[in-house]
Amino acid sequence: MFAVMPYVFYKGLDTADAEALVAYLRSIPPSPLEHPAVELPFPVATAMRFVVADPAPETMTGPRDELAQGKYLAFAGACFECHTLRNDKGEPVGAPFAGGNIFGLEGGGLARSANITPDEDTGIGAWSREDFIARFRSRTPEALNDVLPKAGDMDSEMPWAAYAGMTEADLGALYAYLRTVPPVSAEVITFEPPAAK
Ligand code: HEC
Repeated sequence: MFAVMPYVFYKGLDTADAEALVAYLRSIPPSPLEHPAVELPFPVATAMRFVVADPAPETMTGPRDELAQGKYLAFAGACFECHTLRNDKGEPVGAPFAGGNIFGLEGGGLARSANITPDEDTGIGAWSREDFIARFRSRTPEALNDVLPKAGDMDSEMPWAAYAGMTEADLGALYAYLRTVPPVSAEVITFEPPAAK
């Protein structure tokens, strides 16, 4: 099993949430599509056995206050994973939530994950709770379908549409938690167009 999926960040999933995911997946129509088994060269295959950690659901089970809920979502919802600089092994090495991960785009440009620490100038410190929620709400699947990027355009890579339907309380909790992480002054250029020929 090759850990492309960020298992490590899901191991804190609340048991009830993990069960709800299983229940939902069992409700969708079965598909007979078969995919070839994963084959990995020897050193990678061995190394990967150590990547998948033991589950740790007890860390996040039960009711949470707003900050704990925000932290839970920031990890279970992959915000930390994308917004914290990782090395080529996928390990987080940068300041938490200060961004900088690079995504190659169709057409040759690149996107970088933004600095979402509460730094006023280079992060989202100047954003109000309303700004934050409105940004998520404006990126529904329908809205994004209207502005499909062409090769060479900015294509965020952040699954905005998947988050657009989160509840006001959950988005507010994410905002509240992100206000508590240490502000990091680090300018991130989130889009670089393809180099001019
Ligand atoms: C797959 C990677 C990925 C994931 C997962 C992800 N982001 Fe992002 N995010 C990005 C990238 C890349 C950008 C820069 C492009 C853009 O603004 O859309 C960005 C931009 C942002 C911005 C805009 C910042 C600005 O200055 O304009 C906010 C706010 C944000 N992300 C918050 C979050 C939160 C909260 C989560 C988790 C619920 C999250 N992101 C999950 C990749 C990701």
